[in-house]
Amino acid sequence: MAGIYIHIPFCKKLCFYCDFYHVVSHDDNTSFINALLKEASLRKDYLGDDYVSTIYLGGGTPSVFSVKELGTILDHIRKLFKVTEDSEITIELNPEDTNETYLKGLKNLKINRISLGIQSWRDSDLKLLNRRHDSARAVTALKETLDAGFTNVTIDLIYGIPGMSLKDWESNLDFTFSFDLKHLSAYHLTFEPGTVFGKMLEKGDISEIDDDDSASQFNLLIEKAESKGFIQYEISNFGKPGFFSIHNSNYWKQVNYLGLGPSAHSFNGFTRQWNVRDLKGYIKSLDAGKYNFESEELDIKKRFNEYIMTSLRTMWGIDLDYIEGMFEKEGYDYVVNLSGKFKNYGLMKLEKNSLILTNQGKLISDNIISEFMMPGEE
Ligand SMILES: C[S@@+](CC[C@H](N)C(=O)[O-])C[C@H]1O[C@@H](n2cnc3c(N)ncnc32)[C@H](O)[C@@H]1O
Ligand code: SF4
Repeated sequence: MAGIYIHIPFCKKLCFYCDFYHVVSHDDNTSFINALLKEASLRKDYLGDDYVSTIYLGGGTPSVFSVKELGTILDHIRKLFKVTEDSEITIELNPEDTNETYLKGLKNLKINRISLGIQSWRDSDLKLLNRRHDSARAVTALKETLDAGFTNVTIDLIYGIPGMSLKDWESNLDFTFSFDLKHLSAYHLTFEPGTVFGKMLEKGDISEIDDDDSASQFNLLIEKAESKGFIQYEISNFGKPGFFSIHNSNYWKQVNYLGLGPSAHSFNGFTRQWNVRDLKGYIKSLDAGKYNFESEELDIKKRFNEYIMTSLRTMWGIDLDYIEGMFEKEGYDYVVNLSGKFKNYGLMKLEKNSLILTNQGKLISDNIISEFMMPGEE
């Protein structure tokens, strides 16, 4: 089984924190779609004979496209690839873009998983983040989505926003859990270099919340989500049983995937490649029958590091049998020896021959992961 990711790089407004590749215009819709279809045709053999069991329409903002435009893309993908009947097909929606007719149209395209970019239920946060919608619109969007009969609905929330107190975060969580949601992605705000927030931070015009507040908000998230029956299957992802994102879980389980559109990544076990972050260049090169990408061969160390980076963030952790099978005794000894101190500090535990982060460990997951990286990687 394999997955397909499709990157729609258009947004109507620039969110101040966002480093995902996007352009704030949509004059190029038609030429972009033509280029995307061409890219898919050129790369139709990338997944070999694999069946495709997940498709993810992400962005940017896929909901800037009409149902007809999305249908053109999905029809083409279904013609070229062996997409299974019961595939998980996700679309990211901006709350400003939902309405009954649109949602019905998405259902007709057999899209069966909706991810709504809510970010916060508080207007002051949404203003600070420079979101397109306000909280009233976010509530309407979620209600419309549930009323349209979508059962597999997830929302994105951001915490650690400057000015957000623990109480504010608690109300955001309580309000979230008042809906019949099956999944939640909650991300700590990061200040990415080059974004508006990144630049403001550099100039001292905004500051990050302090580490203790971050930790309290993260702990509250875990506590509340678990009390409502959600399982934290990845540091930022919580799902009810049976509703984990199959597409994203496959990234973390080294399943092959093809990424289409500017900035999209692809992986086939041995190489990772990524399309250039340049919409005009993307369209131009596909007009000429080529596509521009960069790639790297994954040598054994890179594959090891990739595995650690992804698996340690999940509830399945580092599978020591897999490590021994893939990276032999050397890899196994390296991991087991290094894990000793983290186990002693209560940051990691061994369960069913897998090394898993404890809640304490999840708080400093990036530091632990970087200690596991095998030298030789940049
Ligand atoms: C590509 S966007 C989602 C879809 C859609 N574009 C939207 O914003 O509604 C993916 C998600 O990543 C999260 N995100 C992006 N940049 C972030 C940052 N710097 N810090 C924390 N979360 C971030 C947001 O929650 C966002 O909804
Ligand atoms: S968060 Fe979503 S809507 Fe905002 S700029 Fe990023 S991709 Fe676009």
